[in-house]
Amino acid sequence: MINKIKGTYDILPEDSNKWQDLESVVSNVSKIFNFKEIRTPIFENSELFHRGVGETTDIVKKETYDFIDRGKRNITLRPEGTASVVRSVIENKLYSLPNQPLKLFYYGSMFRYERPQKGRYRQFYQFGAEAIGSNSPLVDAEIINYAATFLQALRIQNITIKINSLGDKESKELYKEKLIEYLKPNMEHLCSDCNRRFLENPLRVLDCKVDKENPVLKAAPKPLDYLNDKDKYHFEQVIAALDAIDLKYEIDKSLVRGLDYYTHTVFEIDADLPSLGAQSTLVGGGRYNNLVESLGGPVVPAVGFAFGVERLLLALESIDKPTVSPFIHCFMIALGEEVQLDALRIVNDLRLGGLICDYDFFNKNLKGKFKQAERLNPMFTLIYGNDELKDQVINVKTVKTGVQERVPLNNLYRYLVNALKNPTEGGCSGSCDSCNEC
Ligand code: HAM
Repeated sequence: MINKIKGTYDILPEDSNKWQDLESVVSNVSKIFNFKEIRTPIFENSELFHRGVGETTDIVKKETYDFIDRGKRNITLRPEGTASVVRSVIENKLYSLPNQPLKLFYYGSMFRYERPQKGRYRQFYQFGAEAIGSNSPLVDAEIINYAATFLQALRIQNITIKINSLGDKESKELYKEKLIEYLKPNMEHLCSDCNRRFLENPLRVLDCKVDKENPVLKAAPKPLDYLNDKDKYHFEQVIAALDAIDLKYEIDKSLVRGLDYYTHTVFEIDADLPSLGAQSTLVGGGRYNNLVESLGGPVVPAVGFAFGVERLLLALESIDKPTVSPFIHCFMIALGEEVQLDALRIVNDLRLGGLICDYDFFNKNLKGKFKQAERLNPMFTLIYGNDELKDQVINVKTVKTGVQERVPLNNLYRYLVNALKNPTEGGCSGSCDSCNEC
């Protein structure tokens, strides 16, 4: 019998629907953020990843699948998507299109020769996004928000957004000097890999998986403390934008990420869920302002992220009502023929506001209507009957919490949007006297 290769897996028919559901959420959330799909080949010239990801990174040093093809070319199966997307942007001159930044997303297999375990494979899928062509800190925040909104759409909670800044060239150089000064007398306390990294690229020492808990590394100087004024200002603006959209984050001064191309903002989102095991990082990303230029393009700043799809599916195993099939915000139940047209109008208004809604078109009994709502698994079930029509209100049930509230019709949209921001608390009915809106 010929078996599958270590670190790979089959997606069997009984599981493929979970993948399709997740892919539909990728496409819906990307539409909301106006990111368009790009598809690049799964193999590229090896040089792309050597120059792009970095010669001294673990990925290029130990993990790439390299081969020489029959035309004697050095080929690598892509270990990540960013370098390929940048290659395509340069080759197709997409940086000169009128609408900038380019907002691109991708979904597909990546290959890394890593030690396989739960949540870590040799062929794995990433959903990634890149915003190329703007240095605005608002775009850093947009990228982080896109990643967080995607997790929210999947109802993955217990997440921590960790964020840090490495600064640009000048700050990074100063930091590197300080780090070398600090590490030099301490290298005997660190592993052999760290000693090699110290000589090749000292920043990579901070990524060591063996010495992660070593007090020498824990006490090492932190990049955030060596930012010049311009880079500090960029980071403060990112933080201000995240605060403005009420996204909770933690500043993690030790976060450096494992790829060489990062400048300024870096971030990861971890989930504390039993089904994930040790591989709790769902997504990683950051700004990379020099990569386009170093791969032969013009000076074009960029920022992006990539999710590990297998880890998302593992995370969903810890959730009561997992993926949304297909993803919808609201399902409307109209109670009686007299209110049907009015209910349809309400649904239509919500759709114009960008919410994905469906309607109960069958004249089933109440039990049948709720059964259908359960099958569609929306975020909110809206219930509208004669009493509601008379009082100009609507019943909104937040499916996750089971909480049902009577919401004035003229406040429905605002209520739903607030509830989307705080999925565990529900929204505000518009008459609570305690929220900022009322
Ligand atoms: P990365 O941190 O190397 O970043 O990978 C991103 C995510 O891919 C990880 O957080 C993890 O969820 C998943 N992942 C990585 N390796 C494996 C594996 N062997 N098995 C399963 N999942 C894995 C990048 O790849 C960057 N290109 C992200 C980026 C985009 N930065 C800017 N733009």
